[in-house]
Amino acid sequence: MSTLEHNPRVRTPWFRRQEASTLPRSTRVSPRQIYYDMLNIEEHPEVLPLAYDLVAKRLDVAAITNNLLALPASLSEATDSLSEVLIRLTASSSRFCRPWQATEDLTRRRVMHYFMQYLPTALVDGCWLQGGLRVSTSHTHEGGLLTGLYRHQVRAFVADPGRHFVGDYRRVYARVAAPLEELSSRSFVDRVEFRETSFLLPIFLLGIAQFTRTFCAEILGLNLAWQFMGLSAWGPDLIRDVCASYALSLPVDDLGTRDHLDKSRTMAREAAFQFLKDANESMLADAWPRLLRGIHAGVEIWAEWFERTSETSPGGPPDPRQEMIDMLLRKAPYACGYHADKYLGTKRIDELLAQNTFDGPALLADLAESPWVKPGDPDRSALLKRLITFGGPMLSVFSAVEVQIIKNWITSLPQDAQSFGSKVDGASGSQSLPIESRTKVEENLGSISTAADFRRRSEVVYQGCKIRELYHYLVNVEFHSDILPLAENFARDRLERSMAMLWKGARPIPSRRYDPSALEQWVHKKHREQLESYRRPDERPDVPKGAFIEATVQLAPLILVDGGWLQGVASPAVIHTTVGRMLFHVLVEELGEGKPREHHANVYRELLAAMGVDAPPVDSWDFARWSRLNDSSFEVPTLWLSISCFPRHFLPEILGLNLAVELAGVGGPYMEARDTLRRFRYPSLFVDLHNAADNVSAGHSAWAMNAIRRYMDEMAERDGPHNLDRTWHRVWAGVRATLPQIGRFRLLAHRLGRRLFGEDTTLVPRIFPA
Ligand SMILES: [Fe+2]
Ligand SMILES: [Fe+2]
Repeated sequence: MSTLEHNPRVRTPWFRRQEASTLPRSTRVSPRQIYYDMLNIEEHPEVLPLAYDLVAKRLDVAAITNNLLALPASLSEATDSLSEVLIRLTASSSRFCRPWQATEDLTRRRVMHYFMQYLPTALVDGCWLQGGLRVSTSHTHEGGLLTGLYRHQVRAFVADPGRHFVGDYRRVYARVAAPLEELSSRSFVDRVEFRETSFLLPIFLLGIAQFTRTFCAEILGLNLAWQFMGLSAWGPDLIRDVCASYALSLPVDDLGTRDHLDKSRTMAREAAFQFLKDANESMLADAWPRLLRGIHAGVEIWAEWFERTSETSPGGPPDPRQEMIDMLLRKAPYACGYHADKYLGTKRIDELLAQNTFDGPALLADLAESPWVKPGDPDRSALLKRLITFGGPMLSVFSAVEVQIIKNWITSLPQDAQSFGSKVDGASGSQSLPIESRTKVEENLGSISTAADFRRRSEVVYQGCKIRELYHYLVNVEFHSDILPLAENFARDRLERSMAMLWKGARPIPSRRYDPSALEQWVHKKHREQLESYRRPDERPDVPKGAFIEATVQLAPLILVDGGWLQGVASPAVIHTTVGRMLFHVLVEELGEGKPREHHANVYRELLAAMGVDAPPVDSWDFARWSRLNDSSFEVPTLWLSISCFPRHFLPEILGLNLAVELAGVGGPYMEARDTLRRFRYPSLFVDLHNAADNVSAGHSAWAMNAIRRYMDEMAERDGPHNLDRTWHRVWAGVRATLPQIGRFRLLAHRLGRRLFGEDTTLVPRIFPA
């Protein structure tokens, strides 16, 4: 069950192979752009070759520049040596502890600086561990370790679904300034106050996660560095000190508790020790240096981020002016465009605020001399008295914290108009540095191909790809990410066929218009039918043993990737949403909560073994080409895997598919299967487990139904109650997607019929247009 035992030739990403060199990489990209692409990786897989290069280069440098410890002669020597490394890491943590602390005024400015520059990292907290939950890995020892670590890091516990560090960070920002944009949005990534260099750390964390099978040891090492340098406590410390500095109450009482942080360290250490143990002494020579270079790379990328952020951190005496400039820079993207032909001094206000021409000092100098500000007296300044109060054009534009910043600045202005001009022009003698302007360094990190070139190459390489091959490539998507355009086509085609029979085929939609009670009734009726279909062994004909084994074997491509339809929800863009967490809960239970023995695929493999069937590893060509399997046995699992590559794009369909899969078998079918298994003296754990875990009361079927309701409620909240039906139909296309689908002729007839009624036959816009 170790990924280390796999054939290394299979473990080569497509862009590292000879034939991929024809793909031109023509577009230069900045750290900011790479960060955006990595957050939207399913839409931008063309960034992956560069992401790999960046990660590999950093790991190589970490291995070379650090004097790696000598190779231990035995496992016990390795664990002793690692313990010493961890002691040193722990000792180094004091160097990074609360660097913003200074005098009260300076702390307030500094803590905000660190808070802002850490935002791109804070919002992807734990992301380096996400790849362990993929179908190729989750059933292995390493995958189990990563699954447990990830769940703990993102606090994805059933009892506590809404409480996590990322949510707390967002809440504090909302109080200081305004509600933050969505993580994967252009507006968040394009925030002008983020320095380009602040993206280098999260790019590395996001990048290494995309190559979990290639860099599994390094990820465990990186996680050791993160936990033992105290970085899981670093973000919570920032939150605490921002709140203290701006007189805000803490968002929660149990922020970064000692218990949680201690457990993060314990789990990180145990995972690394377990990894070395699994590698055993024969493979120690490979595992040890990789673990070490992961640790070193983690230390170095963090230290670099820390140094760069510290270099630009405010310093010197109190500087209300610089605080004001920083705040205006944060507000400028939203403010620009609202001021029509209004002028400050000789320039239009919108020109002063525009991203490319933003000039904080000039803006403040003009503002200070305008009728809106009475230097030294905020209470008599129209900016605060009129503009931001009820009836004023800037009502609700500034948070309480921002109003205080304005007050401090006005108070600091000399009342003597003569001395005032020199004061602003010459600043206050502060050593603080302004936040980097977007017009400055847009440092290019490398080149990527265009999306069109990426798609064209994919079409050529995978032309004529058969269903078994597609299954294999999708199980091993880390090495075949260039398959994504084909995966999208496959999912779309299957979903369109399902949609065509929404009303009249098997499993018809229970209501034309979205109606939560119709959904609930359908689930309970279906469950009741399944339960009542149960026949005791003496009431039904005996199933021949050979036929029973055969049916079990044909399900192997499906069950050996159990949970696979949900694997995409672990990504940082989805995991912190409410619906994402609901789906994640189901996913983690399918994966045995990180315990390989309880992983549903492994339970199934044990059943196959009891039947005398030795299935090849699911990620191998031997499995995809296994002559015992029918081509048709790959149809539904390939749909699961294709749809899972696009967890946001196909979310309505995934929600529907999730319901169909979780409900399937509950009640009579599982009970009859249990009877048959017992009759042949095979273990019945697999069906007992599912009949319990998938129950409609509080189990996976209930979670599946509730996730749909929650999603539709969120849509209703956003779009209003009259715009839900199309999405509801998409959900149901997902529910129907596991059924046998109509053929080509009926599909064409369906398309024609839709066009005659002037309807668009496409479900959703294409990610990879033909
Ligand atoms: Fe399962
Ligand atoms: Fe389940």
